[in-house]
Amino acid sequence: MDYRELVCKCKQVTYEQIDNVIKTETDISDVVKVFEDVQAQTHCSTGCGGCHDKIMDFIADKLYER
Ligand code: FES
Repeated sequence: MDYRELVCKCKQVTYEQIDNVIKTETDISDVVKVFEDVQAQTHCSTGCGGCHDKIMDFIADKLYER
């Protein structure tokens, strides 16, 4: 996977930016809460919403790895 790829085209957010927020999360029990933090900090998924599922899947995979 290329982390420089834009996952949210509306807000020009890359996987790398999302990963950087995930790394700062201490409570990883709630995927929705992590998504909300990612959204608040990067503004991803606040446009058309078409990237929502891709971002959610990415977050879930990342949390699963920890
Ligand atoms: S692609 Fe992310 S909100 Fe449209």
